[in-house]
Amino acid sequence: MHFFHLASVFVLAAAASDSDLPDIGASPSFRINANPPPDHPLSYIQGWNLSSYHISPCDDRAVFYPNDTGRIFYVNGTDDEFADRAATLHTDGGTPPWPWSVSVGAPNEAGETQGRRPVRIGCGTASPGLQVAEWPGTVYYQTGTWYVCNVTLIYGPAIALFWREKVERTPADCLNVELQSWCLRAGPGSEREFTRNSTCYSGL
Ligand SMILES: *[C@@H]1O[C@H](CO)[C@@H](O)[C@H](O)[C@H]1NC(C)=O
Ligand SMILES: *[C@@H]1O[C@H](CO)[C@@H](O)[C@H](O)[C@H]1NC(C)=O
Ligand SMILES: *[C@@H]1O[C@H](CO)[C@@H](O)[C@H](O)[C@H]1NC(C)=O
Ligand SMILES: *[C@@H]1O[C@H](CO)[C@@H](O)[C@H](O)[C@H]1NC(C)=O
Ligand SMILES: *[C@@H]1O[C@H](CO)[C@@H](O)[C@H](O)[C@H]1NC(C)=O
Repeated sequence: MHFFHLASVFVLAAAASDSDLPDIGASPSFRINANPPPDHPLSYIQGWNLSSYHISPCDDRAVFYPNDTGRIFYVNGTDDEFADRAATLHTDGGTPPWPWSVSVGAPNEAGETQGRRPVRIGCGTASPGLQVAEWPGTVYYQTGTWYVCNVTLIYGPAIALFWREKVERTPADCLNVELQSWCLRAGPGSEREFTRNSTCYSGL
């Protein structure tokens, strides 16, 4: 009797932890949110949506804000570009809206970036290979790592997104972060010729 009781408790526990994992789906449009490790001063950005911080016309920085629905993203490219990891990440901006690009800064940029490689959203050239993994729904660029830092931008502090090569170190006070793509049912991207489905989490 005892034995059976214990066994069913284990089955229940396993079922509960499985249902905590979000489903994986696919959609042309998605939002991107932060999944940092716990126990760091910046871990409170868990679940914040990727948005943008206006710097100058056509030049925003990728940042995370609390209580913000974030931007709507989509990946563009031909079938070959998707397969070769050369597709590009976009989000509409401007008035009227048109495809803005997401790009990773060059190494050793001059200026306020302190050698870090910021992520920009605007009229620049999109970085090829910034797309969503087939499984699970994580956004990647080459083989490197995303991280966030609380930096002071032109109008004040922001939790800004950066990228580094795998062999480089995350700066002190900054935190590595996984970027998760979350399915959006409709939105820009759905009707574009070169937009394909991206893998995305589809709710708890
Ligand atoms: C995209 O994914 C949706 C499910 O979210 C599916 O219904 C649709 O067929 C997919 N489109 C393509 C072209 O794979
Ligand atoms: C988000 O909004 C909720 C409800 O308005 C509020 O309680 C919470 O403090 C906000 N979180 C942040 C980080 O601003
Ligand atoms: C992120 O955006 C979704 C809607 O797109 C919203 O439901 C969710 O509350 C947002 N998350 C945060 C932490 O603001
Ligand atoms: C989308 O990809 C196609 C095919 O490579 C290209 O012709 C088009 O310019 C791209 N659009 C954007 C907004 O980058
Ligand atoms: C970022 O740091 C500043 C101090 O430099 C602080 O005032 C602000 O609350 C921090 N922002 C967040 C979102 O933690």
